[in-house]
Amino acid sequence: MARKKITIVGAGNVGAHTALWVATKELGDVVLLDVVEGVPQGKSLDLMEASPIECFDSNVRGTNDYKDTAGSDVVIITAGIPRKPGMSRSDLINTNVGILKSVVENVVRYSPDAHLLIVTNPLDVMVYAAWKLSGIAPNKIMGLSGALDGSRMRSFIGMELGVSMQDVHAMVIGGHADEMVPLKRYATVSGIPVTQLIPPDRLSAIMERTKKAGGEIVGLLKTGSAYYAPSAAVAEMCEAIIKDKKRVMPCAAYLDGQYGVEGMFIGVPVVVGAGGAERILEIELDKDEKAAFMNSVSAVKTLIADLNINK
Ligand code: NAI
Ligand code: 2OP
Repeated sequence: MARKKITIVGAGNVGAHTALWVATKELGDVVLLDVVEGVPQGKSLDLMEASPIECFDSNVRGTNDYKDTAGSDVVIITAGIPRKPGMSRSDLINTNVGILKSVVENVVRYSPDAHLLIVTNPLDVMVYAAWKLSGIAPNKIMGLSGALDGSRMRSFIGMELGVSMQDVHAMVIGGHADEMVPLKRYATVSGIPVTQLIPPDRLSAIMERTKKAGGEIVGLLKTGSAYYAPSAAVAEMCEAIIKDKKRVMPCAAYLDGQYGVEGMFIGVPVVVGAGGAERILEIELDKDEKAAFMNSVSAVKTLIADLNINK
């Protein structure tokens, strides 16, 4: 069976670490592309030199030329600038839409059948822009949001309770921004609702920390944003597609009337497999959860209305 081909655009912190996870999981051969000459080549060679130690047989190749990405099965887009302290994700919009435009044009030219996984911020707007710019079917484009935000919430719950992370599950929906909606009612430890294990004030603190978790890392790093958890999360999405796993994960996916939302991408629970976003799961939300979700939808809609590509 021919190996799958996974292209990662942007060989910075998130891109390079995604290449590491994808290669060590042997999801396929990896092409790492960046505009900066030498960097994707150097990082790819460095990864190949780690392969005898970690025993993976994925080829990792660095390039500045989209021809090398031809025929990719999945393309992960991380190209763009990250946040600096004091910046919100939406402050990145103009610069990153400009970058995304040239990236998407080239990606679709050489890999018209690829699934696109968008990482670049502001996330939900970038996924929408990538869809508009690429013209590909909406089920073949998703964005990294809840897979990361949910993992952060799981880690905070696991640390609070001193239990194995493996047993903790959590669902975070809405946009990948401070308006995201961590759902405490759907967080469990081996099936036990966390509302039975963690007192309300501590659980509220965990939900607030989850919403601000990206900013917490930016504040600590000072020169960029998080990359270990983001790269692990997008590699998990890639794995779900490549292995047709039918994983149920929160992702920024296209809504066509589900949750009362039409024609935009935002974080909801999705069945992810070889068909990309194969199915949106419509879960029951109480009054407060629904209000918080619609608030997040409004925030994303406001940013979309300002996009140049709409004018
Ligand atoms: P970084 O600065 O380390 O890497 C970005 C890379 O993109 C650089 O190597 C740069 O040369 C490259 N690049 C710029 N323009 C390009 C172009 N036209 N074509 C190809 N490559 C190009 O940044 P980092 O930390 O990797 O973050 C990347 C993006 O991902 C940022 O927008 C960040 O906000 C976002 N992000 C989103 C997350 C999410 O959950 N959705 C999580 C973490 C980061
Ligand atoms: C994060 O959540 C910056 O979106 C990025 O870490």
